[in-house]
Amino acid sequence: MTGDPAGLADAARALADHLRFHQAFGIRDLPLAGEPLGGPSAALRRLEAASAGCTRCKLSQGRSTVVFGSGNPEARLMVIGEGPGEEEDRQGKPFVGRAGQLLTKMLESVGITRDEVYITNIVKCRPPGNRNPEPEEITACAPYLAGQLGAIQPGVICALGTFAAQQLLKTREPISRLRGRLHKLGGAVVVPTFHPAYLLRNPGPEFRRQAYDDLKLIRREYDRVRGRAAGA
Ligand code: URA
Repeated sequence: MTGDPAGLADAARALADHLRFHQAFGIRDLPLAGEPLGGPSAALRRLEAASAGCTRCKLSQGRSTVVFGSGNPEARLMVIGEGPGEEEDRQGKPFVGRAGQLLTKMLESVGITRDEVYITNIVKCRPPGNRNPEPEEITACAPYLAGQLGAIQPGVICALGTFAAQQLLKTREPISRLRGRLHKLGGAVVVPTFHPAYLLRNPGPEFRRQAYDDLKLIRREYDRVRGRAAGA
């Protein structure tokens, strides 16, 4: 423990941000075992180990793998989708199928690579037949997502599609109304946009143009938070 008042104030602010992320997900009790303030990489490893073999909901019965998340543990931008599909379930990595290829292109269209971001989903196990995740499944998985958010503490969160946006923002508004603007969540901003699978099904230029507008907003916010982190 340092006696430096500025250092203590920074530590208190980091802890408050961490707790606000958990509070945003309705978590009221935090077990204090382990190393709650360890680095993001160690915290993610612990969470992933805890999620292996999870049986918190019925999705565990049909999955091959828990698709926990992948990418940079120090990411300032976190991308959150809906749930793993067939290919993701097979490989154990999020967004590696057709929608994932489009996601890679979407990020690259504004100069962001997959390596620099962290990618995960609202539910970590594949819904059978790629059906929508059910409310109890989303609730059962919420502590893992809250833990990921608390570990990484991203400045910008890209919510892909209705389920991710509605769960993060605790709203029933459709994605068409949520996209195109910033929403505050704890110390981060959430930028909702269309899910790449939706864009593959609706390839009209209007949807793609709107998604590109959202990506430019993500790029702007990403530059802003990185400038802040570098003390610029
Ligand atoms: N769709 C998602 O929402 N997530 C994935 O990981 C893959 C497809």
